[in-house]
Amino acid sequence: MQDLTSILEEALAAFSAIEQPAVLEEAKARYLGKSGVLTEHLKALGTLSAAERPAAGARINRVKSALEEALQAQRNRIAELQMQRQLAAQALDVTLPGRGVSPGGLHPVTRTLERIHTLFHSIGFDVADGPEIETDAYNFTALNIPENHPARAMHDTFYLDPTHVLRTHTSPMQVRYLETHAPPVKVIVPGRVYRCDSDMTHTPMFHQVEGLWIDDSVSFSGLKGVLVDFMRRFFEQEDLQARFRPSFFPFTEPSAEMDVGCVMCHGKGCRVCSHTGWLEVLGCGMVHPNVLAPLGIDSERHVGFAFGLGVERLAMLRYGVNDLRLFFDNDLRFLQQFR
Ligand code: FA5
Ligand code: MG
Repeated sequence: MQDLTSILEEALAAFSAIEQPAVLEEAKARYLGKSGVLTEHLKALGTLSAAERPAAGARINRVKSALEEALQAQRNRIAELQMQRQLAAQALDVTLPGRGVSPGGLHPVTRTLERIHTLFHSIGFDVADGPEIETDAYNFTALNIPENHPARAMHDTFYLDPTHVLRTHTSPMQVRYLETHAPPVKVIVPGRVYRCDSDMTHTPMFHQVEGLWIDDSVSFSGLKGVLVDFMRRFFEQEDLQARFRPSFFPFTEPSAEMDVGCVMCHGKGCRVCSHTGWLEVLGCGMVHPNVLAPLGIDSERHVGFAFGLGVERLAMLRYGVNDLRLFFDNDLRFLQQFR
């Protein structure tokens, strides 16, 4: 049989070289297991004489406890080693500054809508709301744009089926509102509208605010007054440049479009205003008798005006944004500037 000192040295060397818990347990079995080297020694005690037995037994037991101690020490070392490896792999630099919680903010288009809302509310306009999926009857026919009328082609319409469209403007709400409210009415209708259109000043989805004021003495000069006053308050600019151009809408007569001076180039001409110095912000006019008659409203008694303004155009001008599409990219670097 191998002598005990060399067994001890060999076992200690073997244990200390092991880094895997399972391999360590195998090594333990080799020395201390049922048929381990040391166990064989113990069994062999029976072959010794009664005089030799106690001393030999004591020596074997010393070696056994030395091995058990070394085994436990190695188990602890392996656990420690594993912990260190894990810590190194999941290293976290707790001295780095935190990311913080940044406050959100309202989208610039929402802020613009709220501002429009507040200003019109302050001069007595109610607020209404209408469907984004519209029948072509409301979107066109009821607005004096019969089938095959060339004005239908002016709107780049998204058709859902032959009779339903994504509304191309908020004007159908003039009709819907008058169906349920008898004059006098004074209302604005903000909402999303859709057109197959995309460039620096056009997006396929945008917002309009429809305005409708029907009473017995509403005039075109009243229309100009309300809109010019609104724009001056909206832009907080007493000397704001604004102009009305004669225009055509089948549902108003006379019709006009309102431009405000381009805030990007201050009227000198740039890409945003197509080198005109002006940016179109709304269409307007006196509501056409052909729109009012089917609603049972007598144009001799009730007259009124309507307008439809482009919300993103106003946001663009107010915040100095030169490309309307930026509003819908949802780039946080852009949006954070409006917090
Ligand atoms: C109309 O939509 C008429 N319904 C406006 C109206 C209402 C006239 C009531 C008379 C009475 P127009 O297509 O011009 O008109 O659009 C109105 C405004 O919406 C424009 O002045 C512009 O500011 C904005 N706009 C039009 N197309 C786009 C687009 N693709 N992207 C962003 N804004 C647009
Ligand atoms: Mg227009």
